[in-house]
Amino acid sequence: MNFQWYPGHMTKAKRQMQEDMKLIDLVIELVDARIPLSSRNPDIDDLGKQKARLILMNKADLADEGQNKAWASYFKEKGFFVVKLDARTKSGMKAISAVILEACKEKFERDRRRGIKNRPVRAMVVGIPNVGKSTFINTYAGKACTKTGNKPGVTKGKQWIRLNKNVELLDTPGILWPKFEDQRVGLFLALIGSIKDEILNIDDLSLELIAILQAKYPGLLALRYEVSEDYTPAELLGKIAQNRNCIKKGGELDYGKAAALVVDEFRSGRLGKITLEFPGE
Ligand code: G4P
Repeated sequence: MNFQWYPGHMTKAKRQMQEDMKLIDLVIELVDARIPLSSRNPDIDDLGKQKARLILMNKADLADEGQNKAWASYFKEKGFFVVKLDARTKSGMKAISAVILEACKEKFERDRRRGIKNRPVRAMVVGIPNVGKSTFINTYAGKACTKTGNKPGVTKGKQWIRLNKNVELLDTPGILWPKFEDQRVGLFLALIGSIKDEILNIDDLSLELIAILQAKYPGLLALRYEVSEDYTPAELLGKIAQNRNCIKKGGELDYGKAAALVVDEFRSGRLGKITLEFPGE
């Protein structure tokens, strides 16, 4: 499969982010917990190298809890602070607030030495499209938040949102692009629904998904669709079409309908909590 994705604008966005980096103490990077590496842009490590780093493994509600733990350890080992998250719910806020303070310990120490008191942490939310940046900002800053307005010395037009007395967020998230030259990354992004379906071949996508599930979650398709998994992905899709009554008018199997069903059930989590890439692969 060939994936086209977000032509242009990338250099400009990156330059903007470079500027914004000068204003902040902490980078809050959202990744998709189902593809924690493929949903990152490696540039961020360079752009944010002088900053405290927090990775939010978002959509953790859709991912495999065992793999969530494994990925959290993976990132922690690399020096990131990590929180697993469902950005649609407020329940993760307490953990995030505590981790932000921990991640910015050195900043508070530096401020103290310079006699600066109570200067809040300034943070920027970054991530690839559709990873949940707006949801995160809405849930955590929400309507109750106060826009702190322009500040002296800060580029005009920058708005800061006060999360609580310790943390302020830049109100526009930084958009990064995934490494879409890598076909595997493109496939994963398509599977989680981050690339528009109109430009994708859902049949191929479902076959790739079936192959991944057969290898990584044996028994899962068997359970959901009451099929044996001892088939090729294409044969298995046929069995699923049969069992789910995906039949065309003439009585022929409707592969397209079955393909869309499988992909949709994966994306919505009805197929189960699934992580597509494992650490160390
Ligand atoms: P972005 O700003 O990074 O582009 O992403 P955005 O917040 O728009 O989120 C993209 C989609 O992901 C939204 O769904 C949002 O509800 C969903 N989402 C965000 N965080 C989570 C999460 O932790 N778990 C789950 N399960 N979903 C999450 P949508 O279908 O595009 O919009 P809507 O139907 O929610 O309005």
